[in-house]
Amino acid sequence: MCGIVGYTGPRDAGPVLLDGLRRLEYRGYDSAGIALVTDNGDLFVEKRAGKVAVLTDALGGGPPSAGIGLGHTRWATHGRPSDLNAHPHSDCTGRITVIHNGIVENFRELRDELVAGGHTLKSETDTEVVAHLVEDAYKGDLADAVRVALGRLEGAYALVVMHRDEPQRLVGARLNAPLIVGLGDGESFVASDAAAIIAYTKRVIFLADGDVADLTPGTATITDRLGVVVDRPIDIIPWSAEAAEKGGYAHFMLKEIHEQPAALTAAMTGRLRGESVRLEELDGIRTRLSGIDRVELIACGTAYYASLVGAALFQDWLGVPARSTVASEFRYSPPPIDARTLVVAVTQSGETADTIAAARLAGDRGAVVVAVTNTVGSAITRESHASVFLQAGPEVAVAATKTFVTQVATVVMLAADIAHQLGRLPAETERDLVGALRRLPEQAERAIELSVAAEEIADRYASAAGFMYIGRSFGYPAALEGALKIKEISYLHAEGYAAGELKHGPISLLDAEVPLVAIATRSAVYEKLISNLMEGKARDARVLAVATEGDDQIGRLATDVLWVPDTIEPLSTILAVIPLQLFAYYVAVKRGRDVDQPRNLAKSVTVE
Ligand code: G6P
Repeated sequence: MCGIVGYTGPRDAGPVLLDGLRRLEYRGYDSAGIALVTDNGDLFVEKRAGKVAVLTDALGGGPPSAGIGLGHTRWATHGRPSDLNAHPHSDCTGRITVIHNGIVENFRELRDELVAGGHTLKSETDTEVVAHLVEDAYKGDLADAVRVALGRLEGAYALVVMHRDEPQRLVGARLNAPLIVGLGDGESFVASDAAAIIAYTKRVIFLADGDVADLTPGTATITDRLGVVVDRPIDIIPWSAEAAEKGGYAHFMLKEIHEQPAALTAAMTGRLRGESVRLEELDGIRTRLSGIDRVELIACGTAYYASLVGAALFQDWLGVPARSTVASEFRYSPPPIDARTLVVAVTQSGETADTIAAARLAGDRGAVVVAVTNTVGSAITRESHASVFLQAGPEVAVAATKTFVTQVATVVMLAADIAHQLGRLPAETERDLVGALRRLPEQAERAIELSVAAEEIADRYASAAGFMYIGRSFGYPAALEGALKIKEISYLHAEGYAAGELKHGPISLLDAEVPLVAIATRSAVYEKLISNLMEGKARDARVLAVATEGDDQIGRLATDVLWVPDTIEPLSTILAVIPLQLFAYYVAVKRGRDVDQPRNLAKSVTVE
């Protein structure tokens, strides 16, 4: 979704904003813009369709010197990507500028009203109405005017507003879209996430829905929409600026694939005790957990595939019905939910609108809600009774990698912890699980080493017309996620399918141009999977198998093999996906794609 950054203080604002936009670009990248109140007191705006680099080129020798400004990188919702629709947007007087992430749902009605009132709106965006509403409400105090304007808005927003005549002041506001305030020494920042400002300060305030932040250099006053001051804690961002740099890798995605062993270690830190799994974050809700009789997991995209592993284990270990549903479907067709339902919301960003809405609905109906997220302070944590963090560090590439494997590891630990609490997890199962979890980081490292063949194999498969990925049981989520990686970054069609379903339709797609990718790791359903693999082979499809080291028959059956170490079945999804991530990465590179910022996507989607 869109990226937002604002600065007021003694530094030259232009470079701070452009640096922030480059770091935020993964949120959306179809256009970018900045607005500054220059040292001469003029309002300067430059905005361009395209990436931040296009904006930087347009700025030629650099932006004019200024101590305050706003920057925005866009993922279009209303109005196609164009110079005109790029943010910031201004009012009729050209004194007020606004940047926005979210959707003003009643913008048509507001637009008609503003036009009838004599305003001229230039763009097709929903955002521009905000600038004009603030213009109407402005009586010499920007924060007051913003609060009045907010009263007219329906929908979701993270907004930052600047007025040329108050050249040290930024006013930010949030509702259902992320916004944080950064506190520096005599300077203030506002941004959609910490990546934009971590190089300057680690001290942040996570704004809550309904908050309005009134910022001057070094001061931050947070109020509600009526102007009543509210107290918000200052948090310290636990990661360094370097964590969000490429560190010598060609792409963030490649770096993040290689970070997976360390991310898995971090995800398990403090959670494995002797031969048990223990998530302290659940201690406040133990009484409620003791009564659950059903588990519903909700998530979107990659997180949904990770949640499938959780659903299987909750059902197996707790012996209660458990399933995962994509949040956008759950929300409009919810299952029965009551106080005995555990709802687990899995979301890397913690800001995905569909997941948040589904979690809220579940909470309203009495469920106990647990968030599994990578983002401390994110919106999902406020919808949940307990939050379990992935501890994976920042993920910048749009295609998720290390957050997938840590999501799987974390939902496995969550299911184990709760099953243990309920006395339903046999000690031996838990001991085996803990042992396998402890070996996992090293095995992930080995899976990366074994995938050295992925680049050369990708070379031979990169011109395929499409791919069919199949898996069974815990191999199925790996097939889904492997196919999604290909789709996201190479723009080739790839289908992830339950292997047993291959014969019920999709097998007709297979031929010499459409390879079959089979997750054939050691499992109770291995032989069945091999039968499905043979069905594909008989249709002239090349077969790329992901198999367990030591499997001495697969080499005869598959055209190519990507090897992974052996582990227990519930963790096999994690290891199987690693070569598939690397395969997708190299296919995309061979096809000349923009790996870290694939077309049409955004890392977190804060609209429904
Ligand atoms: C977007 C991203 C996906 C991600 C999904 C859910 O579509 O492009 O990579 O899986 O959102 O994101 P979340 O932050 O909720 O895990």
